[in-house]
Amino acid sequence: MNFGFWFNSAVLIAALFFFIYITDNFYIRIFLHNPDTMINLKIDISKVLDFVSLDEIQFFHKEIKEHYDALYHKTGKGHEFLGWINLPSDFPENIIKRIEQDAKSIREKAEIFVVIGIGGSYLGAKAVNEALDHNFSNLLQKRKYPLILYAGQNISENYLANLLDILEEKEYAIAIISKSGTTTEPAIAFRLIKNHLENRYGKQKARQRIFAITDKSKGALKQLANEEHYSTYVVPDNVGGRYSVLTPVGLLPIAVAGHNIRKLLEGAATMQQYVRKNTNNFNENPVSLYAATRNALYRNNKIIEIMVNYEPELYFFIEWWKQLFGESEGKEKKGIFPAGANFTTDLHSMGQYIQDGMRNIFETVISVENPNKELCIPFEKKNLDKLNYLAGKRIHEVNRMAELGTILAHVDGGVPNIRISLPEISEFNLGQMIYFFEMACAVSGYILGVNPFDQPGVETYKKNMFALLGKPGFEK
Ligand code: PA5
Repeated sequence: MNFGFWFNSAVLIAALFFFIYITDNFYIRIFLHNPDTMINLKIDISKVLDFVSLDEIQFFHKEIKEHYDALYHKTGKGHEFLGWINLPSDFPENIIKRIEQDAKSIREKAEIFVVIGIGGSYLGAKAVNEALDHNFSNLLQKRKYPLILYAGQNISENYLANLLDILEEKEYAIAIISKSGTTTEPAIAFRLIKNHLENRYGKQKARQRIFAITDKSKGALKQLANEEHYSTYVVPDNVGGRYSVLTPVGLLPIAVAGHNIRKLLEGAATMQQYVRKNTNNFNENPVSLYAATRNALYRNNKIIEIMVNYEPELYFFIEWWKQLFGESEGKEKKGIFPAGANFTTDLHSMGQYIQDGMRNIFETVISVENPNKELCIPFEKKNLDKLNYLAGKRIHEVNRMAELGTILAHVDGGVPNIRISLPEISEFNLGQMIYFFEMACAVSGYILGVNPFDQPGVETYKKNMFALLGKPGFEK
């Protein structure tokens, strides 16, 4: 046997080992799905590998392990706000039961339930309710559950006056939600709606229609709730507003809307346990992969993340995600800018920019594999609209092809793509996705070196507004 034979064999064996390594690390492990674990959320990062190398992503592996340690052992920045970490699995049964009972009694007496709150005090509930509700729930004639309306998320006179018009004609109850109990927007809306409610039902009966969700002891709202004997729920001290959807803040309005809060918590607990079990398992932990990938992109000047959906009912889920990541990461002159887009709608407004504008963006697509309803495109004899090539196809198939076509186009155009998929929209899967993003946000914030649990920047506009309005103590 000559030298050439040994050389060729060595090259072949090396190539074989290299192929196994590549396959194992690149292609098999990044398509996550382990049916035994009940983890339905999958993440695919293969469409970022033209822009950042796997090494640049795996570079974060060691660091992320330390961040999990800091989170689980409460030794990192903002460690006093980590109550959300074990909340899904440890949620007290007596509070779940109380929420379910209150939700039932609200459903019996109210056609409308007004949720008054801003930021983290309403976005989680709105995200889950819109994701699970009928798209046109406000127009459904025979409603089984009250319509949920929101107030206190703006200071618009038109909005509030129009809301009062609607309430004039309906039986309703309200929740006032404010962790601090001092936020101006919900305080104004509450004062107005409380007055309306008291005029309508009398002070005594109005009390039975008011639920206050706030701090256990501090704040004007707590004091008011004590004096007026409102039914009250506590926002745990160690859970910040934007991490509070799985506390009574989110759970009461979600239960009133008729959704299964046990399944939501179960989904979140499944993700909680899976992530904890896999803190060392970088390639099989969706949180690690997502946090590392977006930070690798950020270090390569991809400073804007556009979260995309193809299902309009996820619009507010993206609004919730924007607040979670925006308020957690955007500080100390750092942070990925969280943007949102609703496809295919926004392909006809933002599509041009995404395809062709500044190349500092990446996209994360939330993809839903199966719709909960079924609808096919009908055949037409004359075919004047030239759509017969689609006849018999599910609308969803067209949507999926739009998604795949768009991903290819945007990746070709220089926009890396992360794809997060769910089998369908359900309480269980939304619970998984909520916990997934909460933990990814905490880990990402630690990678950036910021405290993901404070929001000092939010105070500045308030100080100016109070000074302009002449609030005592804030005069110029
Ligand atoms: O995430 C946060 O902490 C904020 O967005 C708050 O939820 C928001 O400012 C409302 O605060 P509060 O619940 O104290 O009224």
